[in-house]
Amino acid sequence: MTPAPSSPPQQTAPFTPPHLTIVDHPLVQHKLTLMRERDTSTAVFRQLLREISVLLAYEVTRELELTRITIQTPICEMQAPVLEGKKLALISILRAGNGLLDGILELIPAARVGFLGLYRDPETLQPVQYYAKVPSELDARMVIVVDPMLATGNSSAAAVQLLKDKGARNIRFLCLLAAPEGVARMREAHPDVPIVTAALDERLDAHGYIVPGLGDAGDRMFGTR
Ligand code: URA
Repeated sequence: MTPAPSSPPQQTAPFTPPHLTIVDHPLVQHKLTLMRERDTSTAVFRQLLREISVLLAYEVTRELELTRITIQTPICEMQAPVLEGKKLALISILRAGNGLLDGILELIPAARVGFLGLYRDPETLQPVQYYAKVPSELDARMVIVVDPMLATGNSSAAAVQLLKDKGARNIRFLCLLAAPEGVARMREAHPDVPIVTAALDERLDAHGYIVPGLGDAGDRMFGTR
């Protein structure tokens, strides 16, 4: 008698905090690996970032509200879905956030765009705002904050607070890579803000870089050092 086949080993899914979505689509993961490679050129890095940001934008906008309008197809009239409400707002955290904008705007060309600049005070180590220009009526829009690297989470949390102070209520955070420390900081400061990322890495190093990460995202996309 042939023994009954043993059951396959149980796969335990890695723990994902409820407010965190990891976009584990094969295209996203493949492109991210190429971006992590030290020897990937600036031009290729930039192109991959553009491509991957379209895929991440698809996920982060999943809950945009729809309404129905009456249209006439060549065959008949129908009630068809369209986006409801005000155009969404993309807020780029300078400077690396700008690398995500082009791809997202390809998908959502009518989005309004704002910019926030924050630096870290060398004494207090707290983020200080040096630039802010954001769209009006943030309270009536879905607001997507974009920054490729969620590292300590301090500037991200400060940016979200600034947007809340300006009236934003429906906020999402889009990044390429997240560190557990940054996710925890955001969770503590803004549990109402869902995070969408391509990967949750292991940790931060002593200099605040994500490990294994991809290095300095701004330097890699702009070719600086
Ligand atoms: N910012 C970066 O660009 N890279 C990191 O690893 C952390 C923060």
